[in-house]
Amino acid sequence: MTSIYLSPYNIYGNNLVWHQHAVTRSDRESINGHKGALLWFTGLSGSGKSTVAGALETALHARRISTYLLDGDNLRYGLSRDLGFSDDDRIEHIRRVSEVSKMMVDAGLIVLTACISPYRDERQKIRKMFDFKSFIEVFIDTPLEICEARDPKGLYKKSRAGEIKNFTGIDAVFEKPHHPDIHLNGQELLNNLITKLLYALRDKTIIEI
Ligand code: ADX
Repeated sequence: MTSIYLSPYNIYGNNLVWHQHAVTRSDRESINGHKGALLWFTGLSGSGKSTVAGALETALHARRISTYLLDGDNLRYGLSRDLGFSDDDRIEHIRRVSEVSKMMVDAGLIVLTACISPYRDERQKIRKMFDFKSFIEVFIDTPLEICEARDPKGLYKKSRAGEIKNFTGIDAVFEKPHHPDIHLNGQELLNNLITKLLYALRDKTIIEI
């Protein structure tokens, strides 16, 4: 049984009718042999979101699980190429990523997103788009000092030098999740983090292996 997805509103009025097509999410999931789900990684730039999400995708792929990784930096080359880092642009970026994720979960995939997604309310909105079993907020908790020391892209340095405005953690806010589904210490060994995530997916009966 697929839940009918109703957009919260359509700005052009009500002359739209949702068309329920014959092939459902559970039909697709049964071919895949596992459920669809969204793992929404949130954390500062340099916290390890992309690294952890990438390593988890590799581990899932090795188990023949159908996945897709939506990485914030990469999406900004295409889907969100017209958006910057103002509050409004980040909100629109996250809205787009969540809508794409929604479709991919409906396609029966395990979707991993790696976006800073700094606003608690916006992450809460995403949670509400999914049934409670399909949305997993993963907080990669790495202190700002560590992210800044890692500075893999040299962006913290540029931000401190005033060359980048609205940089998350420096002159733009990051609202930590109060109750993430999975809270990871971003300084722990990568292998341990992947073991924890695989265990959580099994525990939530999303995967069996
Ligand atoms: S989000 O806030 O809208 O979720 P997203 O994850 O897509 O951000 O992109 C963050 C990445 O963009 C960072 O990892 C960094 O490489 C780059 N970036 C460039 N400018 C900024 C900025 N002002 N704040 C944060 N990240 C930035």
